[in-house]
Amino acid sequence: MKRTQAIELPAEEIEHQRAIMREFAALKERPHTYCVVTYGCQMNAHDSEKLEGMLLEMGMVKAQSREEADFVIFNTCCVRENAQRRALGNVVWLKELKKTRPELMVAVCGCMMQQPGMGEQILRQYPFVDVAFGTHNLYRFAQLMLQAVKSRRRVVEVLREEEGSIPEELPVHRSSPYHAYITIMYGCNNFCSYCIVPYVRGRERSRASSRILEEARALKADGVCEIMLLGQNVNSYGLDVEGELSFAQLLAELDKVGIERIRFMTSHPKDISDELIDVMASSSHICHALHLPVQHGNNRILQSMNRRYTREQYLSRVALLRSKVPDISLTTDLIVGYPGETEDEFEDTCSLVREVGYDSAFTFIYSPRVGTRAAEMEGQIPEEVASRRIQKLIAIQKEITHQRYAAYMGQVHHVLVEEASKRDEHQMAGKDEYNITVNFPGTADLIGQIVPVRITSSGESTLRGERIL
Ligand code: SAH
Ligand code: SF4
Ligand code: F3S
Repeated sequence: MKRTQAIELPAEEIEHQRAIMREFAALKERPHTYCVVTYGCQMNAHDSEKLEGMLLEMGMVKAQSREEADFVIFNTCCVRENAQRRALGNVVWLKELKKTRPELMVAVCGCMMQQPGMGEQILRQYPFVDVAFGTHNLYRFAQLMLQAVKSRRRVVEVLREEEGSIPEELPVHRSSPYHAYITIMYGCNNFCSYCIVPYVRGRERSRASSRILEEARALKADGVCEIMLLGQNVNSYGLDVEGELSFAQLLAELDKVGIERIRFMTSHPKDISDELIDVMASSSHICHALHLPVQHGNNRILQSMNRRYTREQYLSRVALLRSKVPDISLTTDLIVGYPGETEDEFEDTCSLVREVGYDSAFTFIYSPRVGTRAAEMEGQIPEEVASRRIQKLIAIQKEITHQRYAAYMGQVHHVLVEEASKRDEHQMAGKDEYNITVNFPGTADLIGQIVPVRITSSGESTLRGERIL
């Protein structure tokens, strides 16, 4: 069923939350410095920018280090077991710090909190955590903090999707003046059988295109030269709202705003439309770089994963993309050790990787997530087997990356200069149009500009070159 109502917070609620931020800022006894620790994907990184925006409005300033902060907040991820373990490990580390500094406040939020029973678990097992909340009530952060500080009691609030809302029009502290994230949709409807994201982020909800375009125009006016559109499955943008633009139409409109570079992630292969490929080919500002997670190269496994495309369909999309956008740089996500994966089925992933020729790939060992269908399946793969397979896959991709990068030699790439190298202040680093890091000799005044660089050599995951004057 299509939605006709906006997902954005009503104006009164925004004003209410802003008033709470001012009230918090006026308190004498409250934390004064903060540190935000972020795990997980860009979606979480952008949520952390929203948290920082609110923290600044609440009168706090960023601490010099995590150890010195009066308030530490962990924005967690739970997509794989080790992501969650890492986040919890660091939270426990603060327990010790809190013994020496009892005034220290600790909060936990993000995807991990949305798992069933997590709120109670935090209350029980992590008594040193003062505030905990989930992904659907991020906008109520200031309110929860105020409650905790005033009552001197712990506050845990995790809402279901239908009880929460999207933090629109609240302050955002953007971490870079040159590139910016724009969330275009929240949630995911795909329920890939291994994945927890639909359970912790809720159903697909698209923002109004008018708001997205407004945000892009404001960013352009602020001098931003690269935007990254975010969503778990950006290709299904707009499908949940009556009369909304399609993703391809939205891209075409954004192209007219005139921001030098537009990127987006993540695209689900099943929803890459011909129209989208045409817009990519004809636009002036959409980067010729596409992250197109394939996950696996074997049809039985793809079906069991509920990916809803076959190897052949995926390859035919890639062929069309390459024919219409010949210089396109493709990257992907791959899972090894999915339940029941045989040696031959794993080899299908290896052959697909060779066939496509990705510029790079993120490889993951399958991690069972409670509540997902795959976690209940028979034939869970032993760790040694999965780890041997992933090593092989990594080695194959490394060789392919090397070949792909070799083909870039002599070409001129356009680099958005972001920073001086940590080791050598005369070396500048930034991303080219294909989202590859390029290092070149230069000066700090180039930071924030897009400059032409001739590629001369390559490392394992970076390119090097010389600026063309
Ligand atoms: N929405 C995005 C990806 C979100 S999660 C998409 O569909 O492409 C990022 C990646 O984590 C996925 O692409 C997948 O490769 C990996 N992943 C998700 N769940 C996983 C699990 N249970 N075990 C291992 N890897 C997983
Ligand atoms: Fe997870 Fe699949 Fe949704 Fe991506 S598309 S977030 S892998 S369920
Ligand atoms: Fe992790 Fe949540 Fe992103 S589970 S990958 S932070 S959507």
